[in-house]
Amino acid sequence: MRRVVFNQKGGVGKSSIACNLAAVSAREGYRTLLIDLDAQANSTQYLTGLAGDDIPMGIAEFFKNTLSTGLAKKNHVDIYETPFDNLHVVTATAELADLQPKLEAKHKINKLAKLLDALDEDYERIYIDTPPALNFYAVSALIAANRVLIPFDCDSFSRHALYGLLRELEELKEDHNEGLEVEGIVVNQFQARAALPQQMLRELEAEGLPVLPVYLSSSVKMRESHEANLPLIHLDPNHKLTQQFVELHDLLEGH
Ligand SMILES: Nc1ncnc2c1ncn2[C@@H]1O[C@H](COP(=O)(O)OP(=O)(O)O)[C@@H](O)[C@H]1O
Ligand SMILES: [Mg+2]
Repeated sequence: MRRVVFNQKGGVGKSSIACNLAAVSAREGYRTLLIDLDAQANSTQYLTGLAGDDIPMGIAEFFKNTLSTGLAKKNHVDIYETPFDNLHVVTATAELADLQPKLEAKHKINKLAKLLDALDEDYERIYIDTPPALNFYAVSALIAANRVLIPFDCDSFSRHALYGLLRELEELKEDHNEGLEVEGIVVNQFQARAALPQQMLRELEAEGLPVLPVYLSSSVKMRESHEANLPLIHLDPNHKLTQQFVELHDLLEGH
């Protein structure tokens, strides 16, 4: 089962949510793969501790091979094993940005879906982190996935963008992936003591938007977790934010 975490807005928590849900999934025993599709490689750095030239070519090499006419290994990707049991990563690098126009020109939009078909045998759960734009990589992911999670930060600009995003997802479903399910909106950096976010969420729910009932709090633990290259479930299993991730994960898995 493949879950993509997407919102065209940056800084809403896509990478943090993809990595921490993947880490909980692995911790609960699912063979889990996180695929990083963002040239900024935040998830890659978070889960591997690698940076710059030390990061293996990963997904960029896969996409590059789809462009070559030679004997390059097609439908194959190098996988990086993290120190955490059951958690593997397909790394992202800055090369993704240079490759993008070539991949678009050659209509490679379905290649990721084909790759994931082949990986389904090895992984029970695949989480895909996306760039902050509905670009080639995000669309590839949305075509390849079964479910999409939309992180949301309760900001009024984000709210307007959210309606547009939900319309775009409907169109993408119709045109490319009828099986894609909007699994829900993940409220992130929720401030329980502020009145405005609560009111906004009540309004969204009243409008029938699929707001998931587990809200993720704002905590400095998240930054500590990034700096330590330890997902929250490993850094501090009893922390409130960690518990919210576990609750969210178990809700999505129907536990
Ligand atoms: N629940 C949270 N509490 C505190 N900080 C958070 C939380 N979620 C994300 N952040 C911080 O917000 C910033 C953006 O998060 P990130 O996951 O990189 O978003 P995106 O991938 O959507 O750009 C990061 O600095 C991250 O540490
Ligand atoms: Mg990110």
